[in-house]
Amino acid sequence: MKIKTIGVLTSGGDAPGMNAAIRAVTRAGISNGFKIKGIFRGYDGLINNEIKDFTTENVSGIINRGGTILRTARSSEFETPEGRKKAYENMRSNNIDALVVIGGNGSLTGAKIFAEEYDVCCIGLPGTIDNDLYGTDSTIGYDTTLNTIVECVDRIRDTAVSHERIFFVEVMGRDAGFLAQNSAIASGAEAAIIPEDSTDVDQLARFMERGIRKSKRSCIVIVSESPKCGALYYADRVHKEFPDYNVRVSILGHLQRGGSPSAHDRILASRTGVGAIEAIMQGQRNLMVGVRNNEIVYVPFLDAIRSDKPFDKKLITVLDELSI
Ligand code: F6P
Repeated sequence: MKIKTIGVLTSGGDAPGMNAAIRAVTRAGISNGFKIKGIFRGYDGLINNEIKDFTTENVSGIINRGGTILRTARSSEFETPEGRKKAYENMRSNNIDALVVIGGNGSLTGAKIFAEEYDVCCIGLPGTIDNDLYGTDSTIGYDTTLNTIVECVDRIRDTAVSHERIFFVEVMGRDAGFLAQNSAIASGAEAAIIPEDSTDVDQLARFMERGIRKSKRSCIVIVSESPKCGALYYADRVHKEFPDYNVRVSILGHLQRGGSPSAHDRILASRTGVGAIEAIMQGQRNLMVGVRNNEIVYVPFLDAIRSDKPFDKKLITVLDELSI
């Protein structure tokens, strides 16, 4: 089937650079003779027929804007066969032949299931602050969020030093420690507590044993979010185990997802958006477009959503050696 019309949607948690990706898909698509349709509110919009023709003007002035002009959602209906059937029927009735999905792990898992079930062309772009998609060095939004965290930690450092406190700063990342480990290195934090570090090691005990307060009167520990062992859990333990320490917690939360995308994320979004249209023209389908070693790569969905994206354990040594 010749692809004439491409639908584009953003799904899951918004990430800075998603707008740059929407712009790139729209403009590269139109430049190459495709019709583009914007689908609002992620997969929910496909199910509820919230679809609009896009021209180049629809994506004017958005490359610098955070969030997503298409809005986004975590669709529970799309997880059901009935929901996907409605989505497929709306694709057909809107003459959409291919779908570009900009989102993270859950969104690309949805695209994979949909593509298998209905034999439609789906192309993914890695849109998530978590950087947890396999096969691409970075994801759209990760670099901006990393910089946002570093800016926040720089500010927290001022008050931590002034009061001589230990701060536990909790950052996002779902089940991945890329944001925590790299923001700790970049902000000169004293430690990071991340899911990738060995689970049989008590990371807090190891940190305290290093005698951090012998050389420093204040310190910052970046903690990866976790339902059970987040920043509050570690602060509570320090309260109980080292009552003379002055401890505070700062949970950065959703401010990490907002803001104007960095140049790196705008370029990544632009390159992968153009790559998505090229993939469609080459007859490729059901893969994510990424960038590895500065080259565009096409990663099958099955690989992209693997949960074991390599984490460079040497980063743990870098932080340990530099935080004495
Ligand atoms: O996947 C992006 C992310 O920001 C994660 O880091 C975080 O765990 C989650 O989304 C938060 O989701 P929500 O905004 O739905 O609470």
